[in-house]
Amino acid sequence: MITFSPLTPLFGIETADVDLSQPLSDTDFKAIEQAFYAHQVLALRGQRITAAQFAAFARRIGPPQPHVIDQFHHPEDADILILSNVKKDGQPTGLQDAGSYFHTDYSYLAQPARATTLYSRVVPKVGGDTLFANQIAAYEDLPEAMKRRIEPLLAIHHYGNRNDVNQASRTAASVLSAEQEAKMPVITHRIARAHPVTGRKALYAVSGSSFGIVGMPDDEARDLLDELAAHATQAKYQLRFKYGVGDVVVWDNAALLHSATLIDPDDARTLWRITMLETASEAAAPSVLAPTFAS
Ligand code: SIN
Repeated sequence: MITFSPLTPLFGIETADVDLSQPLSDTDFKAIEQAFYAHQVLALRGQRITAAQFAAFARRIGPPQPHVIDQFHHPEDADILILSNVKKDGQPTGLQDAGSYFHTDYSYLAQPARATTLYSRVVPKVGGDTLFANQIAAYEDLPEAMKRRIEPLLAIHHYGNRNDVNQASRTAASVLSAEQEAKMPVITHRIARAHPVTGRKALYAVSGSSFGIVGMPDDEARDLLDELAAHATQAKYQLRFKYGVGDVVVWDNAALLHSATLIDPDDARTLWRITMLETASEAAAPSVLAPTFAS
């Protein structure tokens, strides 16, 4: 029996009852998965796991997709991206300041991310929290006229941060090599998007990789995306997640925006990250599952 506690009244749930270094029964995994889809952010506190154990857990949630920034893949498993500000012999050991702006993982891919999981290895002395913003609640609170306006709209996405394209900035998207950039497509996603598993509608990636709207002049599209992003990232929709060493957190990319928070670059912080894709059939034809999950 796994006991979960809420992280906030609106969303997020945590438990200290799961040990990912031990085999996880199908029954326990189902309970975890249901809690995850019902509460969008799930924290499994205090793990001590290997790269293989972390990857095995992630693969039960969905098919992992290695990050395009391949220079920081974990040496034992390329599905793991190392996020770190720690340097060894003057060289970075991981990707620093990844995603320090509200965004949705892999929203720049046609088949976007279902979930992302982070395993916290080194926690800084100050800060290093991740912010999440609940896009189901943000969508539901929109005036009906705005819901009708955005219903048919497709946002144009590509890799990057619409609000900061200065590559020297710590709040720009992590810089790609020319070869990595060449792999990045320009694609579209609905702005009001039904969740591929639960069917619940949410604002989707209105901050981050959305740079325009199909059929709309650029300035008008940007104004609308900025208006939606300002609404969707209000404090009332946010959860601030504080890491302890060993915490594994999993979040639902179809239901949330998230942002890293900048810290002193000399205050060590290291996490391992795996991002799992939606399946092709989910992305094409969302199914509606009644969320009958108990917490
Ligand atoms: C990310 O956006 O994947 C990184 C989140 C974090 O480092 O807090």
